[in-house]
Amino acid sequence: MAGYRTIAATVSTAVFMQFLDATALNTALPAMGRDLHVMPIDLNVAILAYQLSLAAPHPAKGTFDAAAARRGKALFDGKATCASCHMPPTFSEPGQNMHTPASICTDDFQAQRSPDGMYRTTPLGGLGTRTKGGYYHDGRYATLGQVVQHYNSCMNLKLTAREQSDVVEYLKSL
Ligand code: HEC
Repeated sequence: MAGYRTIAATVSTAVFMQFLDATALNTALPAMGRDLHVMPIDLNVAILAYQLSLAAPHPAKGTFDAAAARRGKALFDGKATCASCHMPPTFSEPGQNMHTPASICTDDFQAQRSPDGMYRTTPLGGLGTRTKGGYYHDGRYATLGQVVQHYNSCMNLKLTAREQSDVVEYLKSL
């Protein structure tokens, strides 16, 4: 019985927060519309389109090896310990997602310019579509293979070459 009550309380809290958010936004729309000289209803559509555009794109068919990606997922969640920081569904961390440069074996050159001196766990959705400019905050790794190699030595994961390429296929499938 207590279990049902907890579920009911959790669901109603979430629904209440969602209503609160929607209400706050909807109340602000007329003022925003006046400022921007557009009808509030058009603003509503623009905001919805913007929110939808934030969803991570799905990888195109044939851009990764599905069987290898399945093996890669098991490694990502297990032996390679990636999911301890990159947690689904965002592949970042709920709550505190900042890490010291040392914890990911990297330098603090950029981190020391921020207030907390740390790097944020990058969400990994849509990785397959981000093929230009390299990976990590300064693009220091040209390929996903290099990123996995970096973790392999940093965290002494002992991933074989095939396991590393399986993790890469999984990354491309996100
Ligand atoms: C201790 C937490 C932690 C663990 C464990 C971890 N990561 Fe990360 N990851 C981070 C942080 C922090 C960054 C951001 C680094 C930066 O920007 O310099 C990052 C960045 C990345 C990026 C770059 C994304 C981009 O768009 O530039 C990839 C890819 C990645 N991680 C994959 C992995 C994989 C694969 C594993 C497991 C082998 C893993 N991570 C394990 C914290 C972690």
